[in-house]
Amino acid sequence: MSDAVESINFFIDGEEYQARKGESVLEAALRNGVFIPHYCWHPGLSIAGNCRMCLVNIESGPMSNKPQIACNTFVSEGLRVDCSSEKTKTAREGVLEFLLANHPLDCPICDQAGECDLQQYSFDHGRSSSKFVEVKTQRPRKDLGPRIRFNGNRCIVCTRCVRFCNEVAGTGELTVVNRSDQSWIDVFPGYPLDNPLSGCTADLCPVGALLDTDWIHTTRVWLLRGTKSVCGGCSTGCNVSVDTFADEVKRVVPRENQAVNNWWMCDRGRELYKSARSETRLRACKVDGAPVTAVAALEKASELLAGVDRKKIGVLTTGHASCEELFLLDQLAGGPFGVGYQPEGQSFTALDGFEVSADKNPNRAGVAKILGEPDEGENLLDALEAGQIEVVIVHDATPGGTDWDPALVEALQGAEKVIAISHDDTWLAQSKAVAFPAAHWTEKDGTWVNRKGRIQRFRAAVSLPGDTRPELEILQELGRATGAVPRVVSAGGVFRRLAAAKPDAFGGVTYREIGYVGLPLAGAADQTPPEECTTYYAAGPHSRSMTPAKDEQTRLAVHRESPLGYGTLQGSI
Ligand code: SF4
Ligand code: SF4
Ligand code: FES
Repeated sequence: MSDAVESINFFIDGEEYQARKGESVLEAALRNGVFIPHYCWHPGLSIAGNCRMCLVNIESGPMSNKPQIACNTFVSEGLRVDCSSEKTKTAREGVLEFLLANHPLDCPICDQAGECDLQQYSFDHGRSSSKFVEVKTQRPRKDLGPRIRFNGNRCIVCTRCVRFCNEVAGTGELTVVNRSDQSWIDVFPGYPLDNPLSGCTADLCPVGALLDTDWIHTTRVWLLRGTKSVCGGCSTGCNVSVDTFADEVKRVVPRENQAVNNWWMCDRGRELYKSARSETRLRACKVDGAPVTAVAALEKASELLAGVDRKKIGVLTTGHASCEELFLLDQLAGGPFGVGYQPEGQSFTALDGFEVSADKNPNRAGVAKILGEPDEGENLLDALEAGQIEVVIVHDATPGGTDWDPALVEALQGAEKVIAISHDDTWLAQSKAVAFPAAHWTEKDGTWVNRKGRIQRFRAAVSLPGDTRPELEILQELGRATGAVPRVVSAGGVFRRLAAAKPDAFGGVTYREIGYVGLPLAGAADQTPPEECTTYYAAGPHSRSMTPAKDEQTRLAVHRESPLGYGTLQGSI
C-alpha cells in the first residue's frame, strides 16, 4: 500500500487486515483476497445496495451483530466483520432463495452459463432445494438495441446496466420499469440502447439477462480459450481477451486496465476480429499476380534484394505495423520511409474518462518513437520519379488496406521491383510485386505504443491461415538476403534489439515486463505503474464482469515450424 494512503486496521473472521481510508468492507475484503459475493456492486459504478448478496455480520460498534451489506458499510479502526459464520451463511442463503424464486432454471441453454454469478453463488452459497411452488413471473424478451438482447425472466434488477448508461456512457437509455416482482429493465420508447459502448452492459450483467447478439448460441464459455491481448482498433489500445474455440475467434471482451480502458471497450472494437475472415483477405503468396508457394516467393524476393544498396531500398508501411516490424523495416532499408495512416473516425469520451480515440491507428506513437516524423510517402514518390530507388517494400498491415496517394500507387504499379506484405488482396498483390499475405493482429505477437505513450503487447490467439507467416519471419528472412538483419528470432528477441538500438525511447524496458498490462515509456502522458493499473477487485474466476488482469500465467511458447524450414516463437515468454 502506498505511504500516502492512510491505512486502517480491521478484522475479517478474526484475521487482521489493512483497509484504505474511505473503503467499504467489500472493497477492502476483495483487495485483501477475501471474496464476498456481490451482484449490484461494481468498482466502476456508484453503490446501489439493492441485491443484498454481500450481507456480512458486523460484530463490533453500534451496528454490532446485525447483518449489513458490505458494499455500503465502511471500514473503521478495529471493525470486526464476520464473513463465514452460520448466521452470515443463512443470510446469504435467504437472499439467494429470493433471487432464484422467479429466475428460470434454464442454465443448459443460457449463454451466460459457465460465467454466471447467480449460477456460481447458488453453487457456493445456495440451498440445494427450493420452497417456492408458485408460478414464476413472466417478463419480456426483446432486443434493447442492435447489439443487446434482453431476457427479462433472468434479470435480478441489480441495475448495473442502468447505472452504466447513466454514469459511464452518459447516454441514459435504460431504466427500471414497474415495481416489485414485475420490475425489469427497458429502454425509453424510441431511444434504443445503441451508444458506442452498449456491449459493456452485457459484460456487466451478472446473469444471462443481457446478451451480446454477436455471441448468442455461439460456443459454450467453458470451451473458450482466452488470450490476453490488445485491441488494434484505435490509439487507445484497450486491453482485451480474445476468446477462441477450435482455432477461431468467437468474441473479444474487455480486460480491466485502469491505466488504459478501465473495464470497458467500444462496440466497434468487438467486431474487428471479423476482418481476419474478410473475403478480400490475401491468403496466398504471389509473383506477378500469380499464386506461388511461400518458398518461391521468398526466393524471388531475396533475388530482388541481393546486392542492392540499403539506401536504394524504400519502404511504405502503416500505423498498424508493430514496433518490432517497424524496427526490422528500418534495419532492412535505408531509403525514404513513408507511413500511411487510416483516416480519423468516430471518437467518444465516457463520463469516467474512458476514450474511444478518433485516431484509428494503434501504433502512431510507436512510429514516432522508432522513425521520428516520417511523411506519408511524398519523399518516396520523389525518389521513385528521380530513379533513385531500386526496390520498394510495401508493408500494409491494415485490415481493409490503406488509402495511399493515387500518384504513389501509380508509381508503384509501374515499378519493376516491389515486395509487398499485404493484409488484403489489393492492387499491390495483383500487380507485378512479389506479394506475401500479412497476419491479422489476432494471429501474431508484437507491441504497440498507445496515444498516452504506454507500450502494450498483443498476442497470437489463433493460427495463421493459408500461406500467411508473421511479418517478423518474412522481414528477417529478407534481411538475411541483404545481410542487414541477423537470424530469425521471436517478437521478444526483436524487441530486445529494438530496446538496445533505441535506448532513449525503449531503454530499460523488457518484453517480459510489459506483461499483460503494459508499461509507460519515458515521457508517457500517464506514468501509472503496472502494479497500480489493475484494482485487484477480482470477481470469482467464473465472472467476466470484472476480468482480473493480475492472474498472469505464462503460456508455453509454441514453436511453429513453417514450410520455409524455420520457426518463430509465438506466445508469451
Ligand atoms: S439486465 Fe442484468 S445488469 Fe441489468 S438490471 Fe437486470 S440483471 Fe442487472
Ligand atoms: S476504444 Fe479503440 S482500442 Fe478500445 S475497443 Fe474501441 S477500437 Fe478498440
Ligand atoms: S453488492 Fe452489496 S447490496 Fe448488492
